[in-house]
Amino acid sequence: MRFLVTGSNGLVGSRVCAQLAQAGHPVVGLGRGGQRGGGAYRYIGVELSLEADVLTAIESAAPEVIIHCASMTEVDACEKNPEQAYAANVTAAAAVARGAARVGAHLVHVSTDYVFDGDHGPYDEEARPNPRGVYAVTKHMGEQAARIFAPGCAIARTAVVYGWPPAGRLNFGAWLVGALEKQQPVKLFEDQLVSPSLAESVAAMLVELGSRKLGGTWNTCGGEVLDRVTFGRALCGVFGFDPRLITPSRMADLKLPAPRPLRSGLKTDKARALLAAKPLSLSESLSRFHAAWKAGSTPARGG
Ligand SMILES: NC(=O)c1ccc[n+]([C@@H]2O[C@H](COP(=O)([O-])OP(=O)(O)OC[C@H]3O[C@@H](n4cnc5c(N)ncnc54)[C@H](OP(=O)(O)O)[C@@H]3O)[C@@H](O)[C@H]2O)c1
Repeated sequence: MRFLVTGSNGLVGSRVCAQLAQAGHPVVGLGRGGQRGGGAYRYIGVELSLEADVLTAIESAAPEVIIHCASMTEVDACEKNPEQAYAANVTAAAAVARGAARVGAHLVHVSTDYVFDGDHGPYDEEARPNPRGVYAVTKHMGEQAARIFAPGCAIARTAVVYGWPPAGRLNFGAWLVGALEKQQPVKLFEDQLVSPSLAESVAAMLVELGSRKLGGTWNTCGGEVLDRVTFGRALCGVFGFDPRLITPSRMADLKLPAPRPLRSGLKTDKARALLAAKPLSLSESLSRFHAAWKAGSTPARGG
């Protein structure tokens, strides 16, 4: 089956491309600028907010499935640059969805738990979004664009994605490991509930949604909802780091530019019941994360 993956230089997109290529599918990755991080797939550099260029790339790849991972993901940067956020998260999403419809490809559109306000999480697929802040609003608009222009698409929401090696911007898990291994103290929110998600596991669920051409809304994230301090302490246990380096803090203590959902997290009963690629437990995710870190870091650290 021919796949096209946007955001192929990013954290999730790079994993999706790797898994598809490994399974023997022809893959075209779309990214901005040159290809970063390598990978055995054809690469096209495209600015996704330029619809004519997007359509040309999609027509040349003639995919049967498109997995749209590209997005402007830095929440505070979106708040400060709404034009750029709109272009990346709405204009680009609409262009990709129109392209999918034009070539008859099934679309898997990747979104976020930030479409919810975080007042009463965790949320299932039927919960009503109430986005706050530019990132959240533009991601919700991107979902609508996908639904309008590519009816039958899958909306795959994920949350706090982490993985090693880092790709795209530095992710929460990789940042945490980087600090703790140098024995640097870190402050983590104790009051924000999230669904931490291992990038490889998210990618596996996206690949399955694409391969099976499933539509509708799916929570494609980690299988447990917890606060970041609990996550950090569990990570210390698996990686052998000192948990006393973690100081609990509260979100309100930081004056962050963008609002963030507080009681968030996504329920994963649907994916657990209907997908072969199941959401992972925290311990399984952290043990795979640790194995990837060990494998990737052995030469640099001499073991
Ligand atoms: N990471 C998380 O914690 C998280 C949480 C919830 C949901 N999600 C969702 O998961 C999806 C994948 O995120 P990710 O973690 O893989 O993000 P990422 O690592 O930041 O990757 C996103 C990629 O999109 C590319 N991109 C952004 N704007 C573009 C544009 N206008 N044209 C072409 N490419 C563009 C970026 O290119 P550059 O590298 O050139 O900037 C980057 O490579 C997104 O839909 C995101 O909203 C992520």
